[in-house]
Amino acid sequence: MSDLRTRFGRPLRLAIVGGGPGAWIGEMHRTAAELDGHWRVVGGVFSSDAARSRNGGIAMGFDAGRSYGDLDELLDREKRRPDGADAVAIMTPNDTHYPFAAAALDAGLDVVGDKPVTHDLAQARDLVARTTKNGRLYAIAHGYSAYPMTRYARHLVREGVLGALRLVQVEYIQSGLATRLEDGPSSNRLSWILDSQRSGLALVMSAIGCHAQHLACFASGLSITRVAADLGRAGSGPQGRRLHVGIDGIRGRRARDADGHAGCGRRRERHPASRLRRKGHARLVAPGGKLSATGVQGEPARAIGRGDPGLPAEIIALGRAPRGHPEGLREAFANIYREVAQERMARALGETIADAPYPRIEEGAHTMAFIEACIESQRRGDWAAVEKSP
Ligand SMILES: NC(=O)c1ccc[n+]([C@@H]2O[C@H](COP(=O)([O-])OP(=O)(O)OC[C@H]3O[C@@H](n4cnc5c(N)ncnc54)[C@H](O)[C@@H]3O)[C@@H](O)[C@H]2O)c1
Repeated sequence: MSDLRTRFGRPLRLAIVGGGPGAWIGEMHRTAAELDGHWRVVGGVFSSDAARSRNGGIAMGFDAGRSYGDLDELLDREKRRPDGADAVAIMTPNDTHYPFAAAALDAGLDVVGDKPVTHDLAQARDLVARTTKNGRLYAIAHGYSAYPMTRYARHLVREGVLGALRLVQVEYIQSGLATRLEDGPSSNRLSWILDSQRSGLALVMSAIGCHAQHLACFASGLSITRVAADLGRAGSGPQGRRLHVGIDGIRGRRARDADGHAGCGRRRERHPASRLRRKGHARLVAPGGKLSATGVQGEPARAIGRGDPGLPAEIIALGRAPRGHPEGLREAFANIYREVAQERMARALGETIADAPYPRIEEGAHTMAFIEACIESQRRGDWAAVEKSP
């Protein structure tokens, strides 16, 4: 436990919004927050349905009295408690991020929010203003920014070890939405993801493009001034899929006219695998007569990944990160939670701490400006400027 945490005398109290039983990313937030002993998760709102939320909280082991029906109730009741929540963590569908975060900030709580921070840039600017006005902290769960080697890359850039950057490349490839999921069984998660009013201005940018953009900016220390984006629509059928889907990787490259900022251009080549998803170095090879590490003898080579369909349930259960998310993401989330806690504890003790580089709401606003510019670039078929964000 850090000295700061010891001097502060207790873990900070975190209330959760979202992340009910069966949610995709909720458990990662909860467990990451508690990993270092800087936070204790005390309760929350776990569904948009009041009864399901209360029951869900109890089922997950929270006190019935702190398993709330909605956010208003949570904020009101936590404020009255001597041991009320210090912060909320928001891991709900994208369209709820803005109203929930605004309410929490105005109630005097810090926020750890998931991405995309809001529906659009105007809402993100509003959250920046509320965070400042209320003297709060606002962290974004861009886990990739908190991996040790991302931080080292950032360090190398900041120390000038790499010299002036000439090119920043970033890729993030996921195949979860590659097929027409609309034709298969539905779920609560799919229904908000496939509804463009709820998932955001451009699905692939809300889901993973924002991570790639943030990672590039975070590590390079650059922000993006203009983009040439290629966003397409996926899905055919009567209505198609009313979503924008990126069909080319968007890569950062320094714009000729940039003054310390990067432009973002489109390249045509494709790479077979995302660097973000590169596997670890430990390797077990045990070839058999029929099956080897690369597949079945006489058949094309194939790779089987953690959590893939067809694996035995007990094997899938051993994976501690949702399929498609790399191992280590929980610890990276934990780094973000620890940094936020340390900044809050230091402020409370009247102390200052060294730079806490966790992603902040200002960076979320830049992401929203970037997404809006990508859509504008697609519409015009030309470069589009990225609006300055606070
Ligand atoms: N940072 C990351 O790496 C990462 C990874 C995956 C998802 N996410 C983000 O996390 C968020 C949640 O995604 P998910 O895949 O876990 O979704 P999900 O649908 O699996 O889970 C959403 C949870 O929120 C609850 N919920 C819905 N409306 C609510 C409301 N009004 N009040 C309280 N609870 C409510 C649902 O009951 C559910 O438990 C999204 O914003 C997504 O973009 C981030």
